[in-house]
Amino acid sequence: MGFFTSATQTIPTAGEIPKHIAVIMDGNGRWARKRFLPRVAGHKRGVETVRDLVKYCISLKVEYLTLFAFSSENWRRPTEEVSYLMELFMHAIKREVAKLHQNNIKLIMIGDRSRFDAELVTQIEASEQLTANNTGLVLTIAANYGGRWDVLQAVNKMQLAAPQLTGFYREDHLTPYLSLSYAPEPDLFIRTGGETRISNFLLWQLAYTELYFTDTLWPDFNEEAFNLAIQSYQNRERRFGRTSEQLIEPKT
Ligand code: IPE
Ligand code: IPE
Ligand code: MG
Repeated sequence: MGFFTSATQTIPTAGEIPKHIAVIMDGNGRWARKRFLPRVAGHKRGVETVRDLVKYCISLKVEYLTLFAFSSENWRRPTEEVSYLMELFMHAIKREVAKLHQNNIKLIMIGDRSRFDAELVTQIEASEQLTANNTGLVLTIAANYGGRWDVLQAVNKMQLAAPQLTGFYREDHLTPYLSLSYAPEPDLFIRTGGETRISNFLLWQLAYTELYFTDTLWPDFNEEAFNLAIQSYQNRERRFGRTSEQLIEPKT
């Protein structure tokens, strides 16, 4: 698998469909509370939104979709909610993997697996193996993921692999060890649920990503809401440090 160079080196053509979309799926709890339901009912409904979003992405020919399902900080939630989320995660993978495979989707999980039950880890590994050779949408689920954890685990791996380089590391020494090394950097980041923060999601990879925030709660994030995010992306000018004028001049 080839590694991608930093997105900041090349300028994607404006108006294109983003190749890689990264999403913080937020607002499940509020969606449920508004309906006088327990918070977990929102998480259950949120899985439906994931299923639909995968479909929209395939129809638009998005190549990579990366979803934040559980952050390294989400362990701080009440034990019952954490257990419910783990169960839901387990069941959703079990139930959906055959369909993902039929649709030529490659499923990859990123994040620290050391706190997961053995059963969940086995299920994750089996699902990744089953779909490993698929050539369609690359669906990445970030679970027990944190951006700082990612950078640190990459630094540790890089140092073990090339100890002689200490003090002379470059970006391209590090990037092969980041969790998303198989994907180009996200073009579009979407956060639902109204908060305008990154919450320790992809810190390194979002350096030049177009950020889109919407008040829509995750279970309500339908095709129309998704299209608004795409339209917003298509109206942006990605300059990566250059001036507007440079973008219309022929490349030098
Ligand atoms: C996001 O929804 C799902 C996870 C963090 C697992 P929340 O559970 O954070 O929903 P709100 O923000 O409380 O509404
Ligand atoms: C971020 O959502 C993590 C996921 C969506 C998985 P949170 O709702 O936990 O984020 P904060 O803590 O409010 O920033
Ligand atoms: Mg939240």
